Amino acid sequence: MSLIPKETVDQVIAQADITEVVGDFVSLKKKGQNMWACCPFHHEKSPSFSVSPAKGIYKCFGCGKAGNAVQFIMDVEGTGFPEAIRYLARKYGIEIPEEEQTPELAREQSERDSLFIVSDFANKHFQHNLHAHEQGSIGQSYLKQRGLSSATIRKYELGYSLDAWADLTDTALKAGYQQKYLEAAGLTVVKEDGKRYDRFRGRVMFPIHNISGRVVGFGARTLKPNDKKSPKYLNSPESDIYHKSNVLYGLFQAKQAMRMQDMCYLVEGYLDVLSLHQGGVENVVASSGTSLTEGQIKLISRYTQNIAVLYDGDAAGIKASLRGIDLILENGLNVDVITFPEGEDPDSYIQKVGDTAFKAYIKEKSQDFISFKTSLFAEEAKGNPVKKAEAIKEVVASIAKIPDAIKRTVFFRSCSLIFDIDEQVLISEYNKMHLEGRQQQRSGGTASFHEMPVAAPQPEKPASDADILARYEREIVRMLLNYPDNILEEGITTCQYMSEQLEDVEFRTPLYARLLELVKEKLCTGVLPTAEDFINYPDQEIRTAATNLLSEQHELSHNWETHHIFVPRETDLLPYGAERAVLRLKWRNVELLLKGEIEKLRLVTDPQEQDRQLGNIMMLKSLHSQLGDMLGIVVNK
Ligand code: CTP
Ligand code: MN
Repeated sequence: MSLIPKETVDQVIAQADITEVVGDFVSLKKKGQNMWACCPFHHEKSPSFSVSPAKGIYKCFGCGKAGNAVQFIMDVEGTGFPEAIRYLARKYGIEIPEEEQTPELAREQSERDSLFIVSDFANKHFQHNLHAHEQGSIGQSYLKQRGLSSATIRKYELGYSLDAWADLTDTALKAGYQQKYLEAAGLTVVKEDGKRYDRFRGRVMFPIHNISGRVVGFGARTLKPNDKKSPKYLNSPESDIYHKSNVLYGLFQAKQAMRMQDMCYLVEGYLDVLSLHQGGVENVVASSGTSLTEGQIKLISRYTQNIAVLYDGDAAGIKASLRGIDLILENGLNVDVITFPEGEDPDSYIQKVGDTAFKAYIKEKSQDFISFKTSLFAEEAKGNPVKKAEAIKEVVASIAKIPDAIKRTVFFRSCSLIFDIDEQVLISEYNKMHLEGRQQQRSGGTASFHEMPVAAPQPEKPASDADILARYEREIVRMLLNYPDNILEEGITTCQYMSEQLEDVEFRTPLYARLLELVKEKLCTGVLPTAEDFINYPDQEIRTAATNLLSEQHELSHNWETHHIFVPRETDLLPYGAERAVLRLKWRNVELLLKGEIEKLRLVTDPQEQDRQLGNIMMLKSLHSQLGDMLGIVVNK
């Protein structure tokens, strides 16, 4: 049960505009009545994610995710219903009654929500320390000395943890937050003797936000130079809300610029992100010292397909990260590489040369990854044929990861120039690997090649009776949901027509039976059901099914229109379509009944009983063929 009053929930749902809500996460383009984008829930290159402003729903034809604005936030944030409502309420400036936010009530909310709440409290506390506590000046002067402006400090919500044992823990407990959540969020550490202390003490705090701007964890830097006893950076441990492999530092502040400039700069450290953003390179994120994961690449690819990796100067580091870059290629993104002079990282370099020179530098030094890798290996292998062969293999392995065949061809050509060998040598190396990949796959190994042999088509399993019925029942529910109040004949709406026709028909598929029941219930109260009734229905299963059905109006392809062939809309044919949908279902139902009765006949031995059963069967047969006639189906007599 949600603690947010029903009226507030309704108000939020009424105000949430699906286009605006989704538009905060992906860039939508209008095409026909709908808006389209590449799906934020699965990786794809051409858009199959659609938003219908008229119906207030989204639907991905690739991965099947669908729902209303609230569901979208739940999906994209991985949070529960109340959290999604809170998010939308914030977005639309709708106030949620005050008592909902007290620590007592917060306790009753879900675990994840509680973690968000304590992390938010900690974030505010650390910021307060930095700006208002007497110790804060230590943090302030450190950040100033690192060249950060007040605006940057505010924008990234930097803070300071006091040099005390349990400042945060004590303050939070006093305010009513629970120790178990402080612990679960990694803010409080409890020793064996039961003593509590703060994980972060005397450090500059870098809150880590998820894409919608909520704090999920912290990075914390010590202020002491070369302190051997404690690590330079301490990070929050993994928690229910903080999964390192699915978070990128700075993404929340960078996403808009990433989308606008269609480019993402990837750096290693917190300070790199802050310095670049401050210097006007706003589309920058950090993997925070770990190698890039697939989850992080997917996050980036929601906003752009282009990544430029900014490396620190040392060669060892570069070689170590080559593998991570293959992963980017494998996901179909374009990768550029920019290196810095020995001993410099992006932060130190921009501080040294200034914004303008830095921007010119990255523009000039940017090099596509394959050429970069090729040059790197070709240089090393100069005059050493054995090394050269290895180098070729190394580079071809990366090219093989690229899903796009045209791009691969371009790279084979440019590499052949750098290696000064025939293009065909590279291609045959690729083919060899390809073959090995297949064999490995056949023997159960995992290889990631793109043109895997196409599996022989599986003989299709004949659809079961239940499947067939489900299909017919679904069609009826689809019409009911999409066109509830269309007039079919003489003032009769689709809803009325269907419920009359189906009065003595029982749906066998539980989901569609429930949907039909809901329609009938609504009709009984004298009002026509609307799409909103279903899209916002409390039961998730109903919501999802309804959303799917609602995004399926059988619109005909645009091709027809461009060829000037007249194609009627579904609504024009609705009276006919509705009648046929009902007839088809009845016809199938009778057929199944008939099947059952014939089965029964076999078991009957009593002659009188046999006669009666035969009569039954004849009656059903006649009904079946009548229905068949009406449908224009020729039935074997
Ligand atoms: N890092 C970490 N834990 C460490 C060291 C590093 O989590 N003990 C992560 C941090 O996200 C850091 C990044 O790795 O920002 C890069 O580390 P490093 O290059 O050592 O630090 P810088 O970002 O250059 O930090 P600074 O400029 O503050 O020295
Ligand atoms: Mn640095």
